[in-house]
Amino acid sequence: MVVWINGELVPDTEAKISVFDHGLVTGDGVFETVKVIDGTPFALSRHLLRLGRSAAGLGMPQPDVDQIRAGALALVGASPTRPLARMRITATAGIAPLGSQRGNSPVTAIIALAEQKPAAPSVDVVVAPWPRNEEGALAGLKTTSYAENVRALAYAAERGGGEAIFPNLAGNLCEGTGSNVFAAIGGRLITPPLSSGCLAGVTRALVLEWVGAAEDDLPLDDLSNADEAFLTGTTRDVQPIAHVNGRKLAAVPGPITRKAAEVFAMRSAESPDP
Ligand SMILES: Cc1ncc(COP(=O)(O)O)c(C=O)c1O
Repeated sequence: MVVWINGELVPDTEAKISVFDHGLVTGDGVFETVKVIDGTPFALSRHLLRLGRSAAGLGMPQPDVDQIRAGALALVGASPTRPLARMRITATAGIAPLGSQRGNSPVTAIIALAEQKPAAPSVDVVVAPWPRNEEGALAGLKTTSYAENVRALAYAAERGGGEAIFPNLAGNLCEGTGSNVFAAIGGRLITPPLSSGCLAGVTRALVLEWVGAAEDDLPLDDLSNADEAFLTGTTRDVQPIAHVNGRKLAAVPGPITRKAAEVFAMRSAESPDP
């Protein structure tokens, strides 16, 4: 398998990053997961914009997104074409002393491509017992400090769930470990605002543009009482939620979810980089 690292395509068995890399030592880095359909990355420009925004929010040096874009296309070109793949772009703050203090090294940039299974037709979610801190330094940033998400997803899996949902410190609905949440209540489609601490998901933004929804704070309990609900994310597109903490939602998928999934599928097929 070929990967791209700091401007070069190399076999993954020969790719090297330093054990002093601050991304490895402290999670001081940012990343993106991009869907690749039949060898074409989807919404690459939006993902690269967010990579830069996450780096700015983390206060690390800016990754060279033009070089990364060229690297992403080169990697796809050098890899077998699959109907569906996921591309992971990682940029870390580079080599640093063995502590929280940053060094002065250039950014480490890595791109890897792997097979991606299509998302299940619906998902059961479990509410995580740990809140997202909407006031924290990393709120809304896609950083490689992702162990909170790993912990919560394992918690959900232990309870038969395929995604964990975080409340925030205010007790409102925030997001999943790798997804945003939409709920339909009384015919109104609602998703938490960015001030809830959720990531500005690329899929979320496209659903807001193409389908339309209100951005409103929702008490966490509204999710299990919603008429219908769905997750959005790069690896899920629009995925109906079937159960919340074991409780079945009224409609799976309901008419609003079905429409959102249809519109998303149609519009995203029209343009690979909306
Ligand atoms: C914490 C979190 N929220 C939401 C999302 C959904 O974002 P996107 O639609 O850009 O994949 C992700 C993506 O992986 C995520 O990690």
